[in-house]
Amino acid sequence: MQITDKFTGTEETNRQLAYIEKARGYVSQLADRIGRKPTCCVTTFGCQMNARDSEKLAGILEQTGYELISDEDADFVIYNTCTVRDNANQRVYGRLGHLNSLKKKNPHKKIALCGCMMQEPSVIEKIKKSYRFVDLIFGTHNIYKFAELLTAMFESEDMIIDIWEDTDEIVEDLPVERKYHFKSGINIMFGCNNFCSYCIVPYVRGRERSRNPEDIIREIKALVADGVVEIMLLGQNVNSYGKNLAQPMTFAQLLREIEKIDGLERIRFMTSHPKDLSDELIQVMKESKKICRHLHLPLQSGSTRILSAMNRRYTKEQYLALASKIRREIPDIAITTDIIVGFPGEEPCDVDETIDVVKKVQYDNAFTFIYSKRTGTPAAAMENQVPEELVKEGFDRLLKVVQDTARDRVALLQGQTLDALVEEVNEQDNRFLTGRLSNNTIVHFEGDPTLIGKIVPVYLKECHGFYYLGEAVKR
Ligand code: SAH
Ligand code: SF4
Ligand code: F3S
Repeated sequence: MQITDKFTGTEETNRQLAYIEKARGYVSQLADRIGRKPTCCVTTFGCQMNARDSEKLAGILEQTGYELISDEDADFVIYNTCTVRDNANQRVYGRLGHLNSLKKKNPHKKIALCGCMMQEPSVIEKIKKSYRFVDLIFGTHNIYKFAELLTAMFESEDMIIDIWEDTDEIVEDLPVERKYHFKSGINIMFGCNNFCSYCIVPYVRGRERSRNPEDIIREIKALVADGVVEIMLLGQNVNSYGKNLAQPMTFAQLLREIEKIDGLERIRFMTSHPKDLSDELIQVMKESKKICRHLHLPLQSGSTRILSAMNRRYTKEQYLALASKIRREIPDIAITTDIIVGFPGEEPCDVDETIDVVKKVQYDNAFTFIYSKRTGTPAAAMENQVPEELVKEGFDRLLKVVQDTARDRVALLQGQTLDALVEEVNEQDNRFLTGRLSNNTIVHFEGDPTLIGKIVPVYLKECHGFYYLGEAVKR
């Protein structure tokens, strides 16, 4: 489905639209040669922002005449990569070997790589040396030039590499192909200025840039007109939205404007950095009828000493005070988090501090990660890297507490009837639908697939750890 039906003409947008036309010619020639519509497959390795970028790539591919499929046997395969932890990189290398064997069987097959991993010079060197079969490589800053790069790929036999170090350009209004017809991510800002000492994102995504509120509102209105009821506002630190706009605006003010959009039912956002979460935001969330009862508030560590080494700019006590203020003001909110175990210098007593925060905040869910050394970040140069066994021991200890508390929190909803947005037919049993509550909890219940995309009340009958079995209720 294509959502952008009205292109407003910045010069760059128009150039790219012209390239889409040109690429369409090449795709049509390919179709004549192979006697069928060429297929393409976009695979995402990263976060929600990468997933949104993939929808933009898919939108352009669809416009050029490719048929989107989810099989890597396709005539054109593009990997949108992530480099936040080393295992993301390893997965890409592992799967590239398989792509090469598919390419040997299909002489028309083209392979492209883009995304965060491509912003690292060492990665490009490795691909140039050991993965010569890749046709096109580009990075995060010039993704809006995809149509132009695709055209170049058709015109050349050589590997095309186009990586930019940074950009201040935000190109609006190119086609997008959404994964779901009823919900969508929306970028409200790009990049990050926080430089947490373990994190590669600021190096691969560049400096923080906010989109103009008018562009964001216009995009949301177009999505709503196209059937979207739930949006997820995306940014590495949405709480600092608007600081660098010509007319500065706070994230809370932006939310107030978005709330006014008729037809929009649910608003989500991620991620919130605790250091920038304002009282104004808590107030807006409390008063809102549309903002979902869910806040993702990454802790990273509960030890003030480690938080300081991580450059997170809050203490354990400040975080706890913030979490309890949020719980006091919005009692039905679900709080989720990200935690890293094994940051350089971390000792078992630091993990104890983290466990203490988990017990006090009572997270509804927590994503726990083993620290991954990212070349070029300040933490990678720290000498006191933690031995693997010690990391594993701390990780397992933390995980047990995280799972126990999350189970208890989720169980609190038992017996209530709450609204769920129906997202899909259950994969395991097609009599069941899968819905998402405002607080992000998943519920499975029997129902008709025509309910997909609708918000329906569901009785939460049985808690099964992290999800519910429920029953649809007549309004
Ligand atoms: N902007 C978001 C995080 C984006 S990265 C924020 O500040 O919260 C998503 C998560 O990956 C982070 O919250 C962190 O927990 C984890 N992460 C980032 N770098 C990591 C590293 N080097 N090793 C392990 N986990 C990491
Ligand atoms: Fe990385 Fe920190 Fe920026 Fe999040 S806020 S993307 S963890 S540097
Ligand atoms: Fe990964 Fe890039 Fe997102 S490094 S987490 S895909 S911003």
